[in-house]
Amino acid sequence: MPADTELLDTVLRNINSATRNIKLYPKGHPAVATQIRKAFNDIENLLKERRKVFIGRLKDVLVFNEAPIMDVEEKIGDLLLHMEKKEIEGIIFESGTTQKEFATFIDILLEDDNTKGTALNNKLYENSVKYITIKSIPLGKKTLTEVYMGALDVVKDVINDLRLGKVPKSDGVKETVVEISEAVLNHKNTMIGLTLIKNYDEYLYNHSVNVSILASALSQHMGYERNEIIMTGIGGLLHDIGKTGVSENIIKKPGSLSNEEWESIKEHPVHGSKIIEKMKGIERLIGRLVYEHHMGYNLSGYPKGETSLHPLSMIITISDAYDALTTMRVYQRPYHPIEAIKILSGLSGKHFAPEVMNAFINMLGVYPLGTMVRLSSNEIAIVTGVNPSEAEYPSVKVIIGPGGERIAPPFELNLLEEKENGRFIVSPVDPLARDTDVGEFFKEEGSAQEI
Ligand SMILES: [Fe+2]
Ligand SMILES: [Fe+2]
Repeated sequence: MPADTELLDTVLRNINSATRNIKLYPKGHPAVATQIRKAFNDIENLLKERRKVFIGRLKDVLVFNEAPIMDVEEKIGDLLLHMEKKEIEGIIFESGTTQKEFATFIDILLEDDNTKGTALNNKLYENSVKYITIKSIPLGKKTLTEVYMGALDVVKDVINDLRLGKVPKSDGVKETVVEISEAVLNHKNTMIGLTLIKNYDEYLYNHSVNVSILASALSQHMGYERNEIIMTGIGGLLHDIGKTGVSENIIKKPGSLSNEEWESIKEHPVHGSKIIEKMKGIERLIGRLVYEHHMGYNLSGYPKGETSLHPLSMIITISDAYDALTTMRVYQRPYHPIEAIKILSGLSGKHFAPEVMNAFINMLGVYPLGTMVRLSSNEIAIVTGVNPSEAEYPSVKVIIGPGGERIAPPFELNLLEEKENGRFIVSPVDPLARDTDVGEFFKEEGSAQEI
């Protein structure tokens, strides 16, 4: 038996005996601690050589990393049973998992309650488990577009509650952000593309979801830890809820604002952070991120008078500005992603932290995701992937042929490979002029992919 399989065998047996024996002893009994330690030591050993250990369940077969493991039923019947009861398709242990986290995880796994599937991730998160994640059974799988639409509904509920004078619940918020961060982890490009869905009437809803997606993607790109990514995502989703305290007439006013009106808008970060303080189960830091999202790197924004800025606030600030610029508004035609990046870069070191700005540009590429471009072949395409080594040659999907004909379904080209065929980007194209809705394009893409 190869060493790994042997080790895994022991891991599974130990987890299994831990799950079985814990029920026999009272909490805190030394025998329980020994079982937990044994099982955890094995996982720790496996994590020495890899970043992740995945234990999954496909019907009655157990899967370890990529390979199915047979004949395990007898040895680990208890574990399988608990996974089935809790609708867990897989468990991911990442390097960094601590024994305390492992013990909490086992407690949650054995808990006799109705929390199931990916909702368990909320529980893990609330109990400060950062490196263990649950995957639900495939039946519950959502497409990326469904994740986006689900997040929109959550924002609508939060804002409705606020308008009715109620304190919004945090459960849905966390659940949806955990989904977003998972979707971003596996399908970053399509998720970023989905932020180009434009809905003229419901700016605040879409904008909140978009900022959450961009902020999750950027914090992930910058290498932050899972709980920080989720906190940034929640901060992004809630960053503008304070606008519910500002008169709608002012928010939607097409012309320039009077001083008084402007002062009223500037209240929204303070108001938002006060709402978050009242929400149960939301970390205090998130209130701070919301409070700080317009302060700016050089603190010249608002509210005034603060002397320091949390690094995660800067991620929300950039995501917020980028989404605001690329969106059609009452008073503004949307900026092309390239123009938007140019405008934002001009404020690097002033309103935006340079290192966060650079990471953002690096993530989106020279031709940002979702940019519509003309190729040397006279075809029109949409940028769908970034080639970090040669950012001028991204992956694209061709949507209009050289003769102006629509291409359905669009086909993919990696321009890095097309370089030698003389097919490259000539210039960006204005989607409005071509009567193309890039957001709709990604909506279709997102319907074909699952979290
Ligand atoms: Fe804002
Ligand atoms: Fe905003």
